[in-house]
Amino acid sequence: MKKIIAVDGPAGAGKSTVSKIAAARLGYTYIDTGAMYRAVALKVLLDGQPLSEELVDNIKIELDEAARVYLDGRNVTTEIRTPEVSRGASDVAKFGFVRKKLTELQRQMAARGSVIMDGRDIGTQVLPNADLKIFLTASVEERARRRFEELRAKGSAANLAQITEEIKLRDKQDSEREIAPLAIAEDAVPVDSTHMTIDEVVAEILRLATTTEK
Ligand code: CDP
Repeated sequence: MKKIIAVDGPAGAGKSTVSKIAAARLGYTYIDTGAMYRAVALKVLLDGQPLSEELVDNIKIELDEAARVYLDGRNVTTEIRTPEVSRGASDVAKFGFVRKKLTELQRQMAARGSVIMDGRDIGTQVLPNADLKIFLTASVEERARRRFEELRAKGSAANLAQITEEIKLRDKQDSEREIAPLAIAEDAVPVDSTHMTIDEVVAEILRLATTTEK
């Protein structure tokens, strides 16, 4: 059984949805590292102060067993899902001191037991010795459509063309940054979810997690 599972990929590929379900089925802890970058971005927006090492040193980010996110003790699970925070997360994620702090926290979380951790650099940087690495992708059109539906379901105003542009910008920013860019690890299994249902992707992760060869 593979106890440490890394799921990386671009925005809207479905990482968090499938990772959450697969973790529940396996009895593993799900760790959403994007939520941690989002929490840093939210703090910057709320404080109205520029990002600094001091701000990051003093930040308190916690995730609970239901994948709720707490920033300095306050539940910010819903607040971190706005397009403004998505952009902000990609902006703060470029800084080495932010990545260093969050990477340390993520490794501590993974050390506590069996986990599925999703993000951009889990297989390449955070948990390079993961037992299973998955790189989940989908076409940009499909990813934008999913994000559009997600926002609409929440009752937020959403514009497909604008979301497509935002996703393209974030893909570019995440893939081209100097430190820990979004990249497929050499030993990752690529999964293209463009034409797959959530259940199919979950089934594939469970299959990979339970096969014996590494
Ligand atoms: O859910 P979505 O794919 O839109 O984004 P997310 O996973 O919540 O991540 C938000 C942003 O945080 C990304 O665009 C990345 O810039 C950054 N991030 C990162 O740099 N490294 C990670 N391990 C996770 C997220």
